[in-house]
Amino acid sequence: MSQHNENSPLTLALPKGRLFDQVQDYFSQRDLVFKFEKRKLIANDETGLLKIFLVKNADLPTYVNHGIAGLGICGEDVLYEANLRFFRLMQFDFGKTRMCLAAKKGYGQPDSIRSVNVATKFPRFARNYFYSKGVPIQLIKLNGSVELAPILGLAPYIVDLVETGSTLKANKLEVLETLRDIDVHLIANPSYYKLNYRRINHIIDTLNKNEHEENQS
Ligand code: PRP
Repeated sequence: MSQHNENSPLTLALPKGRLFDQVQDYFSQRDLVFKFEKRKLIANDETGLLKIFLVKNADLPTYVNHGIAGLGICGEDVLYEANLRFFRLMQFDFGKTRMCLAAKKGYGQPDSIRSVNVATKFPRFARNYFYSKGVPIQLIKLNGSVELAPILGLAPYIVDLVETGSTLKANKLEVLETLRDIDVHLIANPSYYKLNYRRINHIIDTLNKNEHEENQS
């Protein structure tokens, strides 16, 4: 667990990738300004309230679970896969996506008779989803570019995040079903929150201000 000295900054893990820019913009609009120097993975915000770690999306729950970062921002997709205990402190308006079942155009739904391959970065989610439906599947775990699987014949179906839909479209795939809406959350290690709740609540108040209020003050 990182230090709880009132003077030391709160620790926050942020995910690399497309969510990062949205978090950075959202924070800077509320006067929590930070910048990572080239290739650096640790930065402080300008007020000294936060020490920020840049981590791989899927690793973020691990850092928060171990208390290395007391706080983190990530999607429910990552939280579901990690299956760990966190406090969810706040839900953001940005970064909303959908967990979808997709296939080549014209493909029907998988049935409960014949087991089919399903490729995904989210094996826990996909396994539980098809299990609850009574549909037998073989899971193929991938780490990215999941849309290649139906095109190359690795698996006819994928379970993946869809945001704009442009990756599916560009690869001639389509959504068969939205399985779950995915939101982005501020999470905390429960012990860290209990030790630092005053300062964390102050950050939450700052983050809850909307841009308009911020500009007026
Ligand atoms: C995510 C997701 C899809 C894509 C969807 O992948 O797994 O591939 O974004 O976004 P879209 O609907 O806006 O096209 P990401 O970009 O994180 O890269 P990855 O495939 O390497 O995991």
